[in-house]
Formats: sequence, C-alpha cells, structure tokens
Amino acid sequence: MPRTPPEMFRIKVVEPIRLHPPEVRESKIKEAGYNVFRLSAEDVFIDLLTDSGTTAMSAKQWGGLMMGDESYAQCRNYFNLADSIRDVFGFEHFVPTHQGRAAENVLFSTICKPGDIVINNMHFDTTRANVEAQGAEARNLPAPELFDLESDHPFKGNMDVDKLRQTVEYVGAGHIPAIFVTITNNSGGGQPVSMANIRESSIVAREHKIPIFFDACRFAENAWFIKLREEGYADKSIQDIVTEMFSYVDGATMSAKKDGMVNIGGFLAVRDPKLFERVAQKLILVEGFPSYGGLAGRDLEAMAIGLREVLDEDYLSYRYHHTKFLADALQERGVPIMTPTGAHAVYVDAKRALPNIPREEFPGQAFTVEMYLRGGVRVVEIGSLMFAAPDPGTGEMKFPEMELVRLALPRRVYTISQLEFVADTAGEILEHADELGGYRIISAPKVLRHFTAQLEPCIGSCDS
Ligand code: F0G
Repeated sequence: MPRTPPEMFRIKVVEPIRLHPPEVRESKIKEAGYNVFRLSAEDVFIDLLTDSGTTAMSAKQWGGLMMGDESYAQCRNYFNLADSIRDVFGFEHFVPTHQGRAAENVLFSTICKPGDIVINNMHFDTTRANVEAQGAEARNLPAPELFDLESDHPFKGNMDVDKLRQTVEYVGAGHIPAIFVTITNNSGGGQPVSMANIRESSIVAREHKIPIFFDACRFAENAWFIKLREEGYADKSIQDIVTEMFSYVDGATMSAKKDGMVNIGGFLAVRDPKLFERVAQKLILVEGFPSYGGLAGRDLEAMAIGLREVLDEDYLSYRYHHTKFLADALQERGVPIMTPTGAHAVYVDAKRALPNIPREEFPGQAFTVEMYLRGGVRVVEIGSLMFAAPDPGTGEMKFPEMELVRLALPRRVYTISQLEFVADTAGEILEHADELGGYRIISAPKVLRHFTAQLEPCIGSCDS
C-alpha cells in the first residue's frame, strides 16, 4: 500500500463512539425499515453518510465563534466574510444563506420562469428540485467519460461542451436563465472539472450572453485536482487556481458545509449589481437581513475563517491522501470502486460488488445495509432506491445508469485505522456476496423516497 503522508494537524477534542454488538445492530436496522437515514446517529459507529456539515472545525474557527457579533444588521463578522469572499473568489456582491439549497432557492426563484431550462454538468438533487419548483427543466450535460466507471480519465466531472453548444443554439439563450458547473461533480462520483472545460463552458455562455455559475461546494478540492492533474498548473498556488476558475463565472451558489469547513452555512454570490439587488430582496423574505441571511454572527465568522483555511495545501494534500487511502484499501480487498477517486468520497460500484442481486431488488441498498450490519458503518445508496422511477410515457421502470454506494468522508474527523476498519467491513461483504439477497419497498413517499422509504429483505424472490 503506498505510504500515506502524516496528517498536518493534531486532535484536541474527542468524542466517544460505540459499536453495538451484532444482534443490536440487526434489531436497529430492522426497526429503521432497512433504511440508514432512519437510524439514530448514536447507533452508528462510523458515519460516512455525508461530508456535508460534518467537518471538525479548527481551533481558529472555534476561537472565531467567540467573536460572534450578534447585532441584527451589519455585524462585524459579515464584513470579515465579505473580505474572505472577495479575496478568495473575487466576488464583490454576496448574500449569506443558511446552507446551499437556500442559495439555490433564492437564485432560481429570482431568475427562472416556467418552461426555462437550466443546464448543469450534473445537478445535485436539491439543485434539480429548486429548478423544477419554478416549473423549469434541470438538464444534465455530463461528458460521456463519466459513465466508464473504471477509466482513468482525470476530469470525469466535465461538462459535455459540444452538447452544451448544441443545446444553447437549439433552445435559444432566452430560455436558458443560467448555465451551472458543479465543482466537483458530486452526483457524478465526486469527479473534478478541468480548467480547460470551465473555460470552454464559459466561452459558450458568454458568446450567448447567458450567465454562468458555479455550484461551488467543493471548489478547493476541484482546484487541488487541477493542480495535480492538469498540465501547466503544478507550480501554481491553490489560490491562483481558484482565482482563475472563478474568473470564468458570473456567480456561485455555495454550501459552505463542504469546503467552507463549517457545520452550517452557505452563500450566493453574483457579479451583476442589478441581480444582486433582486436576490437581496428575496433573501429578506426567506432567510433574513442580507448581512446575516439565516445565520448567527458566529457562524459567519467560522465560515470566513474556513474559506481561507481550506486553501492550505497541507490540508488539501491530507484530504486527497486520506480518501485515496480508503480507495486503495477497498481495492486491495477486491471491492469494485469508481476510479480515479475524487476527494470527498469513494463510490462503490454495487452492480459489480453484488452481481447476483437484480436491480429491482436494490443491490446498492443491500450493500448499504450490510455495511451497518457487519460494522456499524453508515453509507448511502446512490442508485435504484434513490433514482429508479417509472417512465412517464410507457410506465416501464427506468433505472439510473449507475448503481453506486457512497462512502463520504467528513473532513478531519476519522483516522486511518477507522478507515481500515471500514475497508475490512466492505471486504467482508464481498466475501459473502453469493449469500446476500435484495430488498423490496414496503412503503415510500412519491418524492425523494430514499430518505424515508421502509424496506424488507426479499426472502427467496421478490417477484411475488
Ligand atoms: N450542491 C451540491 C453539489 C451538493 O453536494 C449539495 C449537498 C448541495 C448543493 C446542497 O447543499 O445541503 O447545504 O443545502 N450535498 C450534501 C451531500 C447534502 O451529502 O452530498 P446543502
């Protein structure tokens, strides 16, 4: 196994976790309807459900919390955040929001009308939902390399720029209020987008005078991959790379719960002063006064510090190697994963991991349940349970292209030995793959069913 560089931080505060005995885990997951979203967090040993809002903050950020100015209007922390956003991204106008989807809501409810199309390399589910809530269409245009799970293409998160150009010319700029580039492409395996691809997407947008935005949740991880993998960037600082990336866009939505290194927070930034006035008015309606936008002063301070901290190359190197350690450990144990690995998560290919379980019986969910049963590890299915739906025309069940299970890594939280335990747990599942069966849904809501659906194991066959 390649040597993983030592972490460039030390642990100051710890929180005990516990691993229930197997029979307790069995009854807990049964009570939860075989849906890990329904488990109490306290019954989980290692929680890899998400990297969002699960970051361990630094001593400096915790110190920053004490400097919270809880004045209603124009608190000092707002100005500190404004400085960070100007220095890091080059944006003069922004509004804080309580998290990413609030920024999406404020933006799309301001710029979209029914029948419009918002284009994205790949919408995250809340982004899609916020576009659709306006009666607009959320169209994904990922580059085709994304779907070859084992290829070593360095920037599988790219936009398909040819299709982007065709779509813009066919639909017409008047029906496209925005083009989005999601960095990194979370729903597409956490894969990065190259600088060249950002530049080309921006050229298409600007030729047609369509505003182009980043969904910037994991902007620093994306910049790290540009430094690592794209010609001409190895000697540039992360800040220089970020500055160039953002020079190509007209604004950004950001969930700071990822690369903002905080447990809550986000923002919407736009360059156009007129659009800024409109979104600031909308913000007052749904989030709060434009200088705090749904957050306490102390939260703004932690975000102001986190946005600068995340650019530290020691941190980003740790982040990359930590995730790579898990990916390598899984591969050594024969667990099929999407490659190359992104920075925030490792994605297991459940179709190959559990080939005996048909897609109607949710192989990704079966893998997810086994991770809890065997190791108290919580991961998330991103496959048929999340996305399969009947075709509105034919009624035939349509399955998503990929059947993935995401092991997302909270920032600065788990140790290498804990990751080894996770890899061992997954390896054990592969050893018993022939004995495992699938699941059937016993109750589920129509929208976003994976959050609350209840399932049961298929005993024998699910055909009945
Ligand atoms: N965009 C992307 C690419 C995301 O990954 C997320 C959240 C959001 C927008 C919404 O941000 O949660 O702060 O409202 N992703 C989390 C995840 C939930 O687990 O991947 P939010």
